Amino acid sequence: VNLRAWNTFGLPAIAQTLIHIDEEADVRRVVDHPEFGRAPKFVLGGGSNIVLARDVSAVVLKVAIGGIRLLETRSDAFIVEAGAGVPWHELVAWTIDQGLPGLENLALIPGTTGAAPVQNIGAYGLELQDRFESLDGVDLVTGRGFTLDGRLCRFGYRDSVFKHELAGKSVITRVCLRLPRPWRPELGYLDLQRKIEETGITAPDARQIFDWVCQVRRAKLPDPAVIGNAGSFFKNPVVTPEQCRDIIARDPHVVHYPMDDGSFKLAAGWLIDACGWKGKTVGGAGVYEKQALVLVNRGDARGAEVITLARAIQESVYGRFGIRLEPEPVVVG
Ligand code: EPU
Repeated sequence: VNLRAWNTFGLPAIAQTLIHIDEEADVRRVVDHPEFGRAPKFVLGGGSNIVLARDVSAVVLKVAIGGIRLLETRSDAFIVEAGAGVPWHELVAWTIDQGLPGLENLALIPGTTGAAPVQNIGAYGLELQDRFESLDGVDLVTGRGFTLDGRLCRFGYRDSVFKHELAGKSVITRVCLRLPRPWRPELGYLDLQRKIEETGITAPDARQIFDWVCQVRRAKLPDPAVIGNAGSFFKNPVVTPEQCRDIIARDPHVVHYPMDDGSFKLAAGWLIDACGWKGKTVGGAGVYEKQALVLVNRGDARGAEVITLARAIQESVYGRFGIRLEPEPVVVG
């Protein structure tokens, strides 16, 4: 099968075997299978955070486990459970419709619920780890089920245990989210402050924030259904105060935010933009016109062209600012 339709970047890559996982038992069937049991596996969710650099020799497991329910009502939180194959935005929209606020800042993020913990998705001042309760998965070697809490997932900025020790070793089947009661809006992010000023709505409810986040994202991020992309292509680099001062000396306008631990996070989009990349095209790959942190497929890009463009951007940012940008999506192959 060609995976082009299974990744939001729209990159072509041939996989010999693709198996649909509709329920937990399907994972066990794969583990017990005489041929596929021992083969390397690649777990595919919405395909929205991968760059297929070449053909995939691993057995591809396409997770399609569905179902959303309110699992538990506690005095201090609602616990909502969703199947790993549920599109993330569908889950967010469902909670808002049910009057279960707390996920609104994470509206419109592409990909599936099962993929959300892998990279600890985050946007507009909120990360998955802030709303995470637990997840269920199946070990791809033993076929055994397991449950992990937030501590065991070892969440970091766009990072978790699933990008390290557990990479390729398990399938996430279900995720439980904790929506704190009473609800408190998260409005610290600049884009949301601007919406408050624009509209004069100083006490927005969750649906209002949901709508604002959708508007902001639609205005500056390309819709993968129209223009292939995998969201931010690089992580925002975190630097020491000394490094930050050095960069400010190179360009006083550099966008930087102080972190709780004294370090600074730099806006990678700004660094790339400052190097003149916005709107540029190399082969079939390009830098999005409205957000330099997003690389896009101009039509028939191949994975190798995306990687070539990414390397060129890394080199020019390193040359000008002395900062090494790290890719954010998982590069396959
Ligand atoms: N900027 C520029 N030029 C650009 C792009 C950005 O000057 O071409 C400046 C902006 O003016 C702004 C700053 O850089 O001052 C930050 O930009 P933005 O608010 O768009 O956010 P970001 O840091 O580029 C991060 C996440 C996004 C998330 C947004 C909103 C990462 C790698 N990216 O982007 O996440 O939606 O914040 O919270 O952390 C993703 O991970 O795929 C993703 C889209």
